[in-house]
Amino acid sequence: MSREPVNLVEVGPRDGLQNESRPLDVERRVELIHRLVDAGLTTVEAGSFVSPKWVPQMADTDQVLDRLDLDAGIHYPVLVPNQKGLDAALSAGAKDIAIFGAASESFSKKNINCSIEESLDRFRPVAEQALGNGMRVRGYVSCLVACPYEGRIEPNQVVPVVRAMFEMGCYEVSLGDTIGRGTPKQIHAVLDALLSEFKPEQLALHCHDTYGMAIANIVAGLEKGIRTFDASVGGAGGCPYAPGASGNVATEDVVYLLESEGFETGVDVEALVETGKWLFGELDKMPPSKVNQAYQS
Ligand code: HMG
Ligand code: MG
Repeated sequence: MSREPVNLVEVGPRDGLQNESRPLDVERRVELIHRLVDAGLTTVEAGSFVSPKWVPQMADTDQVLDRLDLDAGIHYPVLVPNQKGLDAALSAGAKDIAIFGAASESFSKKNINCSIEESLDRFRPVAEQALGNGMRVRGYVSCLVACPYEGRIEPNQVVPVVRAMFEMGCYEVSLGDTIGRGTPKQIHAVLDALLSEFKPEQLALHCHDTYGMAIANIVAGLEKGIRTFDASVGGAGGCPYAPGASGNVATEDVVYLLESEGFETGVDVEALVETGKWLFGELDKMPPSKVNQAYQS
């Protein structure tokens, strides 16, 4: 019997590395991406065209893209916050970009130095030009249920930002529980609000695992029909502008969950575990992923 497919968006080379005190050089970032593709991932976020003064770990993303085969059928999205980022993404040959906004004013200000409205005004021409150049544009909305500066965020703060992203032509909006504070009931509530307007296949869940709730929240997403999840190998990551946020949910943990529950991910969990081990060896620490640890024992 054929199994229902679930899409995974690997964000380790971007979200996983953007907050590391020990930045990885271009060569190791490229090796990480190759290992992830070899494990079966077909969408791997490759970096960010943001200010290297703000996020030095993502400097030289153009050199990373230069060393990837961008025509091999794998999607390599890059984060783009503004026109300057789009210009850099275009020159580097990127075919997929992600614009990233937030449902919280304070987070928007800290993360991209402008209000929500200013960010949307900035993204609109960026998305238009990207689409005109044949790129795919993904949207992110951070602070799905909570903000590190404002606390609880209500569904009615999220919906208009998601709507604006779709009006700009995003093919999908990824919903970020940036500080991993959400629980299944809150995820259900915000998804109910969004699903009264959008289809589940337009939405992705991007869960950080700060409070250990990410897997439960992914199950909550599955219950509501969401079939695209972002994850980071080994559980690497965190946002530099979200104090206390730990890594994304580990890709190994999500693959283990989904495959055991009868979904098809196309990803080889053992190859992922090896990649997580290798990455955390380079970072000189233990991967937080439970599945990774279980496979080592
Ligand atoms: P700003 O200071 O307001 O920008 O920063 P500006 O336009 O005033 O320019 C200031 C300087 O930055 C100038 O350089 C620009 O050239 C340069 P200077 O003249 O001082 O030498 N600059 C750039 N350089 C390279 N690339 C660019 C760029 N733009 C301006 N694109 C800006 C605004 C958005 C650039 C800044 O705030 C920034 O880079 N922020 C980083 C945001 C970031 O990467 N955050 C982490 C990713 S988001 C996240 O993790 C959440 C997510 O995972 C989902 C979730 O978990 O919720 C996606
Ligand atoms: Mg994130």
